[in-house]
Amino acid sequence: MIKKIKKIILKNFTKSYWKSNISNNWHAKRKDESFDDFYDFAQAISNKIEDLNFDTVIEIGTGAGTLISLLSKRLNTYDKFIGIDINKQQIDENKKNYQNLDNVEFIYMDIAKYINDTNLNNIAIVSQNTLDYFEKNELKKLFSLIHNKIKNVVIVVSSLKSNIELADSIDRKEADFKVYSHNYYALLKEAGYELMSIDSISDREVVVIAGYKLS
Ligand SMILES: C[S@@+](CC[C@H](N)C(=O)[O-])C[C@H]1O[C@@H](n2cnc3c(N)ncnc32)[C@H](O)[C@@H]1O
Repeated sequence: MIKKIKKIILKNFTKSYWKSNISNNWHAKRKDESFDDFYDFAQAISNKIEDLNFDTVIEIGTGAGTLISLLSKRLNTYDKFIGIDINKQQIDENKKNYQNLDNVEFIYMDIAKYINDTNLNNIAIVSQNTLDYFEKNELKKLFSLIHNKIKNVVIVVSSLKSNIELADSIDRKEADFKVYSHNYYALLKEAGYELMSIDSISDREVVVIAGYKLS
């Protein structure tokens, strides 16, 4: 019982942290420091999804909008690029900073609510450095929701190579809240995704995992 209460508090605390203005310092630092990550992942995603006959790319947890804006410049076979986030300030800033990109939209909403409330088909969903903050059951629910609601969809996430070996998710403390190492390949498979691929990117220990559901 106590374990269950602790789990709920931590989950809510993590979400409150990302929603709050305190996390905006994190975003400002990340924007300056990690451009290579964004470039490598944007390239890997583009290679994976450019030839699919899909219309829209949706990013879960867009933060300062770097990845989705890079994708919008690379993937000219797609019409629309949508960055979703629960942090209002980041979304407001992104709307101003990227107003010159006509095909990019930013939405302040929880991703599960967005998927649940929106009619979607032929969608590529991408996420970097965000799903590690979802607790395992929340993530399982999200993967199932996407699978049930969207007819043709691919999910592309980045992870550490070693995580593909994990028999179960592991939680570790970062700052004052939990962050998880998930085996995304296993979780996508469990949620019913097929035609999955795992690709190494650059010479780092990072892999890109793609799970498809095509009907
Ligand atoms: C660690 S940051 C990563 C941001 C960005 N992807 C990057 O790599 O810099 C996680 C982001 O996910 C957002 N986020 C967390 N839970 C979310 C949810 N349920 N729906 C949408 N966004 C969420 C947070 O507000 C935060 O901006």
